[in-house]
Amino acid sequence: VGGVKIAREDVVKEDDPTNNVPDTIYSKIGLQLHRRDNHPLGILKNTIYDYFDKSFPGQFVKFDDLCPLVSTKQNFDDVLVPADHVSRSYNDTYYVDSQTVLRCHTSAHQAELLREGHRHFLVIGDVYRRDSIDSTHYPVFHQVTVFPRLYLNVFKTRYVMNSIDLSRIQMEGFRVFSPDDWSGSGMDGTAYAATDLKKTLEGLATHLFGAVEMRWVDTYFPFTNPSFELEIYFQGDWLEVLGCGVTEQEILKSNGRTDHVAWAFGLGLERLAMVLFDIPDIRLFWSNDQRFTSQFSKGKLGVKFKPFSKFPPCYKDMSFWINDEFTENNLCEVVRGIAGDLVEEVKLIDNFTNKKGMTSHCYRIAYRSMERSLTDEEINDMQVRATELHYTMIFKCCLD
Ligand code: PHE
Repeated sequence: VGGVKIAREDVVKEDDPTNNVPDTIYSKIGLQLHRRDNHPLGILKNTIYDYFDKSFPGQFVKFDDLCPLVSTKQNFDDVLVPADHVSRSYNDTYYVDSQTVLRCHTSAHQAELLREGHRHFLVIGDVYRRDSIDSTHYPVFHQVTVFPRLYLNVFKTRYVMNSIDLSRIQMEGFRVFSPDDWSGSGMDGTAYAATDLKKTLEGLATHLFGAVEMRWVDTYFPFTNPSFELEIYFQGDWLEVLGCGVTEQEILKSNGRTDHVAWAFGLGLERLAMVLFDIPDIRLFWSNDQRFTSQFSKGKLGVKFKPFSKFPPCYKDMSFWINDEFTENNLCEVVRGIAGDLVEEVKLIDNFTNKKGMTSHCYRIAYRSMERSLTDEEINDMQVRATELHYTMIFKCCLD
């Protein structure tokens, strides 16, 4: 990453109780699917670049090679994630040690880029989240964060305006809030930014999907206020495209941008690439199978993927009593650690509590290879090993 190889011992530390990064995750670091021009994720990234290059020529600085190892300060504190927010937990995030994580969003770089003086920037990269397993969730995915509009808020800085050469500011790529923008509109800086954000992102959605019906949904992010999600009506369903909002003043102030207004958004590439290219399973993005990779080429957004063959799934159930140590994310990590990308889905199918208050869970695990038929023997073996290892982990003892 960034021309630097990250060594296994820098990320996987079996003896350190504050580390929860498995080898399956380490093996993905540095692959940078988003930098391959013939890969669906690279094709989608380039289409997003095109939109911003055309709409705001020469204004955006792009970062697609920033190291995914970041401090907890960058990943959480700098973007105002509260101390008790679930995303900080070991169950949700990969910790290298107590102060260092694999970034769970590309917003982790926002504050330092602002401090370095950047105004309009795109950050694209691999992000990491512990999660459950199904066809649309994978613990590594790719995200774009754009920090596109930093305005000098003349509303607040009328006294500064007298000494500022407006043309110089505009040349440097600032969008300046001119009195014409707001006077008569009755809007303050925040409302103005929210309007501009919606217009720009509706343009992006049209650029990617063509003329589609769209709607805005109010939501919450710690770093923006107000916050929204953009959804489009696509193939008979409402699909969430991105999250966005007007940047919290505190973030701008503490990173050298007093008297500014800005907005930002974040978008997951896989989710959109799956619908644009008709890719049925998120694991396929990581496939080196020629039958997958040869179907995509530079600049061709939306070429429909033709499944080369569908091998049968193999289902195995796993039942166990749970205790306080149990979490579904941990179970998924155990199964993936043993079966790798052969696991297609881990699904709770029965949940039962007896009179003594003990709860048992039954999970159905779907194993399926995208390249070959699996044998019952090899899957039985994996299932037994996964069951034993999971049991050992939650009860911290051996089965024999
Ligand atoms: N970081 C948010 C996420 O990962 C997305 C986002 C980015 C939302 C920037 C608002 C602004 O879900």
